[in-house]
Amino acid sequence: MNHISDYLTQHKDRFLNELIELLKMPSVSADPAFSQDVLDTAEKVKIALLDAGCTTAEIHETAGYPIVYGERIIDSDLPTVLVYGHYDVQPADPLELWDSPPYEPVIKKTAEHPEGAIYARGACDDKGQMYMHVKALEFMVKTDQLPCNVKFMIEGEEEVGSDNLEIYVANNKEKLKNDIILISDTGMIANDVPSVTTGLRGLSYVEVQVTGPNRDVHSGLYGGAVANPINILAKMIASLHDENNRVTIPGFYDKVEELSQDERAEMAKAPFDLEEYKKALDIEAVYGEKGYSTNERNSIRPTLDVNGIWGGYIGEGAKTVIASKAYAKISMRLVPNQDWKAITELFISHFESIAPKGVTVKVTPHHGGQGYVTPINTIGYKAASKAYETTFGKKPIPQRGGGSIPIVALFEKELESKTILMGFGLDSDAIHSPNEHFGVWNYLKGIETIPYFYQYFTELSN
Ligand code: BES
Ligand code: MN
Ligand code: MN
Repeated sequence: MNHISDYLTQHKDRFLNELIELLKMPSVSADPAFSQDVLDTAEKVKIALLDAGCTTAEIHETAGYPIVYGERIIDSDLPTVLVYGHYDVQPADPLELWDSPPYEPVIKKTAEHPEGAIYARGACDDKGQMYMHVKALEFMVKTDQLPCNVKFMIEGEEEVGSDNLEIYVANNKEKLKNDIILISDTGMIANDVPSVTTGLRGLSYVEVQVTGPNRDVHSGLYGGAVANPINILAKMIASLHDENNRVTIPGFYDKVEELSQDERAEMAKAPFDLEEYKKALDIEAVYGEKGYSTNERNSIRPTLDVNGIWGGYIGEGAKTVIASKAYAKISMRLVPNQDWKAITELFISHFESIAPKGVTVKVTPHHGGQGYVTPINTIGYKAASKAYETTFGKKPIPQRGGGSIPIVALFEKELESKTILMGFGLDSDAIHSPNEHFGVWNYLKGIETIPYFYQYFTELSN
């Protein structure tokens, strides 16, 4: 691979400025108020793909937000890399917790990012990481070094469950045919400890509603005499974990794959500083399932967490009232072999069964997906490992991640190909949180590393 560092030095400012322009667009898929911005962002991604060297780039309509598809096919005998990413972002709220406005990107230095980081919603998840692939393509095309075929599929509904992508993939198997899927939408351990994500957790996301009296009632006149849905919901939620912080839903752990002591010992070798971890979050102690380490709890173990809870009076001052309804949004992170639809069913029947008389319960499933693990003896993994070794000077550590990209398991099922997760973000980049950012160094390192993946993957495919 010639001149990648020269090319980077020469074009670095433009690469940053292009990303900054993309980050100014509030492509929030969850909130219809931003729908025009989401559509405009798709258009911008399409143009970026054409500029970078895709011979075709198209906007493919779906029942929701469009999928941007692009390709450059140089020789049908050569392997094909399919790049997946997403141009939608999470809502920026709560806005008041941002140090600078979420759609006015600024570069600031931090302890983790002494060379500066770009602060904006989507900087790391996933615009910055997706755009590394666009710029890596530009480098390979402009310097005549693209070694194989490439296809891009960039969606706009990842943060809301990828329902329409599922349909699109099932209907376009031939078009999407590939030898390996390449995604940068995860993280790595640290800038001097590169890692490749070898697993993702599955997800079941549900909303629950508890209804008591048919209207909000006076908490003096009726208090103590009728079931208060908020009290009841709090009790029901509390009962979902036992004293060892295990989930109490019957059958929840039935299919969970238990790792061998050897595998766990291997995992424990990854560098991790518990004191640093606690300090970064300002917590005195970590908390979780008994018998497992922090890194196990957030990767190989399933979880249940309330993501939001509301009901009753939350305005200024005091209003004495018992609400008619209480609500919560609950996510369950799942591990391979746990089927998300089966777990959702288990949740529904358990939650309904623990509701006392005097309230009614409604559970609405939102979205979900299967977990994923990828072996490390494939040429895809080996190519990724060699690519990191070339640009980081050391082999990456295989590491299972705690987040979910539900579409990955589906790619394997529908397209019959493996996914390589080359993430360049850090856990401290605050994805989904206020002040999300992405290191400038990480962005450029990603652009530098990706072309080597193409080169080694093509070589190893022979
Ligand atoms: N990029 C993340 C997933 C991720 C981040 C995986 C870091 C591993 C490490 C993705 O955009 C995401 O946020 N996924 C959602 C699931 C989706 C169905 C809303 C998640 O994990 O909550
Ligand atoms: Mn993402
Ligand atoms: Mn996300």
